[in-house]
Amino acid sequence: MPLIIDPSVQFDREMSEHYDSFVQRLIPDYGRIHELVVAQLGLALEENARMLVVGAGTCTEVLALADFDPTWRFTAVEPSAPMVEVARERIEAAGLNERVDYHVGTLDTLNDQGPFDAATTILMMQFVPAEQKAEIFADIGKRLKSQAPLVMAHMIGDPESDEHALAMQAWRDHIEITLKDKAADVFANVSETLHFISDEMQTSALKDVGFGEVVRFHTKMMFGAWIAIKN
Ligand SMILES: C[S@@+](CC[C@H](N)C(=O)[O-])C[C@H]1O[C@@H](n2cnc3c(N)ncnc32)[C@H](O)[C@@H]1O
Repeated sequence: MPLIIDPSVQFDREMSEHYDSFVQRLIPDYGRIHELVVAQLGLALEENARMLVVGAGTCTEVLALADFDPTWRFTAVEPSAPMVEVARERIEAAGLNERVDYHVGTLDTLNDQGPFDAATTILMMQFVPAEQKAEIFADIGKRLKSQAPLVMAHMIGDPESDEHALAMQAWRDHIEITLKDKAADVFANVSETLHFISDEMQTSALKDVGFGEVVRFHTKMMFGAWIAIKN
């Protein structure tokens, strides 16, 4: 898998230091999404589960999941070194060093083939070009045990549809309130980095690479969240 975006530019030191407060204004229901991810995996997993966390950023999902079950362990995959630095500080402050391994790079360069009991990609897949999304689903799938869940949350939608245009407008309206005079610049910059496919295309790509049931459990504007079970 080639490097999709240049994380040293998109998620550079300055962004990494402000990411945790910025993302809560940028993404509607950011905290709620993480609560739902914990709820899904809480239902699906047993004790001592090993989790693959792709696009971990500053490890917000790791903190939430680690708090839920003190026996779960995590491999955080994140190509931006400054994001990983912030993640390490947060994980250390929470006393979780022993439970988290880091891979500073993209998933294709991770030696650990698992098999893992579960995987997450939270707010990462929208950066992956349409034609490469299946490759990442396949790379995650091959590192999962049979019947293991992949839990994902990201932006989605058929870019040609009226529904998608309305959802984008709703998001723009949202950030005009939360980011005020920065909203227009942020909308323009972030929009350039996004790659959309329809929900149907995503399900079909997941099934093609060995996932069975795919269930959507969250929708807000063009943000969605899903659980997909590896065959
Ligand atoms: C919006 S952040 C989400 C971080 C975290 N998951 C969260 O919930 O806050 C997206 C992260 O995905 C990372 N990323 C981008 N392309 C990636 C790739 N191909 N493989 C793994 N991570 C990637 C970025 O560097 C960034 O830290």
